Amino acid sequence: MTLQSGGQGMDDNSARGRQVRALAPWFHNLHLPDGTQTAPDHPLGDFPRFKWQQIAPALPEDMSGMSVLDIGCNAGFYSLALAARGARVLGIDLDEHYLRQARWARDQFDVGAAQMALRRMQVYELARLEEEFDVVLFLGVLYHLRYPLLALDIVASKVRELLVLQTLTMPGEETLTPPEDMTLAQREQMLAPEWPKMAFIEHRLEGDPTNWWAPNRACVEAMLRSSGLEPIASPGHEIQLARRSAGGGSASSAELRSVLGLN
Ligand SMILES: C[S@@+](CC[C@H](N)C(=O)[O-])C[C@H]1O[C@@H](n2cnc3c(N)ncnc32)[C@H](O)[C@@H]1O
Repeated sequence: MTLQSGGQGMDDNSARGRQVRALAPWFHNLHLPDGTQTAPDHPLGDFPRFKWQQIAPALPEDMSGMSVLDIGCNAGFYSLALAARGARVLGIDLDEHYLRQARWARDQFDVGAAQMALRRMQVYELARLEEEFDVVLFLGVLYHLRYPLLALDIVASKVRELLVLQTLTMPGEETLTPPEDMTLAQREQMLAPEWPKMAFIEHRLEGDPTNWWAPNRACVEAMLRSSGLEPIASPGHEIQLARRSAGGGSASSAELRSVLGLN
């Protein structure tokens, strides 16, 4: 991940300031209870606080009794925000560096591990988790995956009520109602700006070789529908809220089980 802060700009020589620097680089600018910030010089600004301000109104103020899965939890900004609303949170990430930050941050906020559990885990491993969650956050991860639709099918199966999805996109906000069928001769339609498309990035984007895909908005919505979720709102740029759709998705469970070695 290239958009990080090394904790530079922090001239704080307190014990907490030294700990923040020892845990750098940070992708999340956490505002700690004493006012210290973990990435005050973040290249994206006060990240992800400004994104949370777009998402927060869509979630209940009181989330007591609700369960949340935070996929790619990083340093735990969202997990902490949802724990603060009373939710029981599971944050997963594959990177031990960020999980170390999240565990440390959890202590700073005096949040117990029972309320905010953290686990080193690949998104695909969720297929082996029995549990479903009232709310699933899938923020900033989809485009880092080589197998995005596989991941989305798995993530969708964990959503009881609401998925909050954020992904890097390619330009183009147009959407369409997809045709039920088309002939081979009608493939020209796929060149329309509103046709669902996902650009493949073979090398790097913004210096990051893990940025594999950039879907347009129509593609994000189409993938959600295809995974059994109904897009219901977009509270901010590149953010989609989706709920479980009554009909379910078109994912073949036999194919999924075979890919995951579950047969
Ligand atoms: C761009 S950051 C997004 C962090 C946070 N969700 C947010 O929106 O601010 C991507 C995070 O996802 C994690 N990640 C990337 N690929 C993953 C995977 N396959 N399974 C689980 N976590 C992953 C990274 O380690 C990183 O912490």
